[in-house]
Order: sequence, then structure tokens, then C-alpha cells
Amino acid sequence: MPTPHISAAPGDFAPVCLMPGDPRRARHVAETFLDDARLVTDVRSMEGFTGTYEGRPVSVMAHGMGVPSVSIYATELVRDYGVGTLVRIGSCGSVQPDLDLRSVVVALGASTDSGVNRTRFGGHDLAAVADFALARAAVDAADALGVAVRVGTVFTSDLFYAPDPAINELAARLGALAVEMEAAGLYGVAAEHGARALTLLTVSDHLLDDAHLSSDDRQRSFDDMVRVALATAVA
Ligand code: HPA
Repeated sequence: MPTPHISAAPGDFAPVCLMPGDPRRARHVAETFLDDARLVTDVRSMEGFTGTYEGRPVSVMAHGMGVPSVSIYATELVRDYGVGTLVRIGSCGSVQPDLDLRSVVVALGASTDSGVNRTRFGGHDLAAVADFALARAAVDAADALGVAVRVGTVFTSDLFYAPDPAINELAARLGALAVEMEAAGLYGVAAEHGARALTLLTVSDHLLDDAHLSSDDRQRSFDDMVRVALATAVA
């Protein structure tokens, strides 16, 4: 400690850490939702903060884009800083006609085209799943806050710019609600290191008809999801 990618001191992170993809969103969460938030790491401008929410210690740190990036930060937080609970707060592209923009998706499990979990598991397929208690707490919190929520699987893709969009339709036929880029990696790290993890996603795009949120709507739905994530974190 510090690790190659995190410059915090031992004990700087809370037992629970919210993780957006974008470092500016981590700062936004810290400044808008946490009390007494202080910066604890900023290697590569990937800022991490620790403060309190309803009197309980909570951290927020971004994980960047894609499975390799989330795998690095999640591993170091759990293995080296003792963080036991990671809640990703990201965005996704819907692949279901009845999954509307602004909904919050609780990613119970993640299919993927990434090879990391097979690498991790000797060539076998790992069940990349959320922690059940966290998933249940998130659904309860969303219901209590009046935030529209859907629970199901997502497709974690390494390619934001997929050469053949048919892969999204196939994922949808196999039950995926949406496409994103990190959940399977996060769940693999949690499985390996014995942590609890959950992925919450706002639907920022609709991949079937190209609809997408305005930046104001994006911010509003992100904030709704943060409220759900924080209620989950302290449940
Ligand atoms: N693909 C992957 N990740 C995403 C998308 C997408 O279309 N939209 C928001 N996050």
C-alpha cells in the first residue's frame, strides 16, 4: 500500500464503495450526496473519495471503462484496502423494446464476450452474478424511492463499437435487458476475492431504435440511481 493504481493510505476507504465509470461522476457523488467527503486517491486522475451517508462511512471511486479497468480498481480496493462491498453505478444501452430510457437496471448476472472469467477459472464459464442481499436491497430501495427498476441479466461487451450489431439482438433473444461494459468483470473479481458486488445501470441509450437521453435527463436519472445505490449501501 499504496497500490500501483491507488494512492490512499490504509483505512482511507470505507467498507462499501460506489463505483461509476467516469471520475467526474465520482466527484459529483462525493460533493452532492456525501457528508464530509475527502479525496483519498487521485492516481491517473481516477479520484476516490470517502465521506459519510446517513452517518455511515461510504466511499466512491470511478473504475474507468471496460473489464480490464474495472478489474484493476476492484481488485485493489478489495484485496489491498479491505473494501467488502462494491456497487457499480453505470449506464447501459437497452436491447428490450419495453425497457425504457431512464429505468434503473439491477444486473443480477452478466453474460460476456470478455475472456477474463474463463482465464480466471481454468477455461470454464464462471457464474458472474450479483450478491443477492444487495440486489434485494436495491429493488426495495428503488420501490421506496419510486424509481422504475428492472431486474435481470445484462451483456458485458468488450466492444462499444461492435462490428456486427446482430450480437445485441442475439443477447436480447437470450434474455439480456441491456448492454454495458463492466459487470461481468466486477462480478468475477468479487467471486475471486470473496467480496459482495452489485451493478446498477441507468438506461442511457436504446440500441434498437437509437434513442438516447439528453444530458439533463442523463444527470437526473444518474442521481436517481445514486439514491438507490446509497440506500442499498447502508441497508
Ligand atoms: N454499449 C456499451 N455500454 C454502454 C452502452 C452501449 O451501447 N450505452 C451505455 N453504456
